Amino acid sequence: MVSVAIMGHGVVGSGVAEILLTHKQKLFAGLGEEIHIKKILDLREFPDSPVAERFTKDFEEIISDREIRIVAEVMGGLHPAYEYTKRCLKAGKSVVTSNKELVAAYGAELLEIAKEENVNYLFEASVGGGIPIIRPMNQCLVANIVNEVAGILNGTTNFILTKMIEDGMQFDDALKMAQDLGFAERNPEADIEGHDACRKICILASLAFGRHFYPDSVHTEGITKITLEDVKYAENFGYVIKLIGKVKRRSDGMIDIIVAPMLVPFKSQLASIDNEFNGIMVRGDCTGDVVFYGKGAGKLPTASAVVADIVDCCNHLKQRRFLYWADSKESNIVDYKESVWRMFARVTGEGAEQKSREVFGNINVNTKNGTKRIAFLTESMTYGDFLDKAAQLESKGVKVCSMIRIGEL
Ligand code: HSE
Repeated sequence: MVSVAIMGHGVVGSGVAEILLTHKQKLFAGLGEEIHIKKILDLREFPDSPVAERFTKDFEEIISDREIRIVAEVMGGLHPAYEYTKRCLKAGKSVVTSNKELVAAYGAELLEIAKEENVNYLFEASVGGGIPIIRPMNQCLVANIVNEVAGILNGTTNFILTKMIEDGMQFDDALKMAQDLGFAERNPEADIEGHDACRKICILASLAFGRHFYPDSVHTEGITKITLEDVKYAENFGYVIKLIGKVKRRSDGMIDIIVAPMLVPFKSQLASIDNEFNGIMVRGDCTGDVVFYGKGAGKLPTASAVVADIVDCCNHLKQRRFLYWADSKESNIVDYKESVWRMFARVTGEGAEQKSREVFGNINVNTKNGTKRIAFLTESMTYGDFLDKAAQLESKGVKVCSMIRIGEL
């Protein structure tokens, strides 16, 4: 029997307890041992839980219990999750987590401690919810040089965009639905402003390039400025708008990393990924593109990945899984204004089409709403050049209402 503790009984934590209880026999058959939930840490009361007597409000009961070998940290947030994780690892307990905020902020340090203590720190659930992505990248694709990873990494925003595009739903109503379904973060700003996707692309970049990428060094834009008009124009051009996290190692070794809404061509494998589903494209030099697809948010999909990590830890109680990246202060990230894109712009004003052509040169214009309210696609240019030209256009009396990158995905 392997004793485990679960820290947090929210959406994911309650899912972990549920799977461990309802899939007990299945897990036993695979592992040859029972996984026993010894303690659950939460400040709230859960008198109706089938394991109500195992709840505690005191972390010390977990850390001092030598029988507990594995701890699932599913409390979310940085503090006290960071302090508790560190203490568990230092006490010789393996830790598994869905906490992308913590992994993105302190992953290198926690992986180093796990290495020193000869225990495991696993976080399959931190990216892509129920989609296997950390383990496949770390193991199955290990023979590849991966120079690019891109994907839809946030279920809440993809759900909102899908509802806007397919049902013409208003932003706030779609967000409320995503919250009710348990997809959104406690503070949904992390979803809609792109921070959650940023944490996830940082984790994938750290894994791909072997050194820690910090979220505050990544240019991040959310979806709050996307309107139904943008959605319709994008469709006319043959694109769908998605929030994309993308990292690419250029041939000069510089890393181009960003989170932003992008126009994704209908033919892209990412274009048809809807609702809370995530899709992650990993470009390996031997494999070519490999796309991972599945439910990126929600109780049981995410809990399934946490439980898989618990099982992995059970199978490797005295052995480390090789999952590691180093801390780094390297500053080889491309300034977002130097990054090159084709752009979509939606503009309004007297003579909008003619003035846009004067400023941007060769553009592909959609004039569905007349010549004063148009949208156009530019040729490739640095984002900085685009901003300069947009300012020139505004000085000619044409308002730039939207500017969205075109993702060549
Ligand atoms: N809020 C996150 C999302 C949960 O919507 O993707 C899963 O990480």
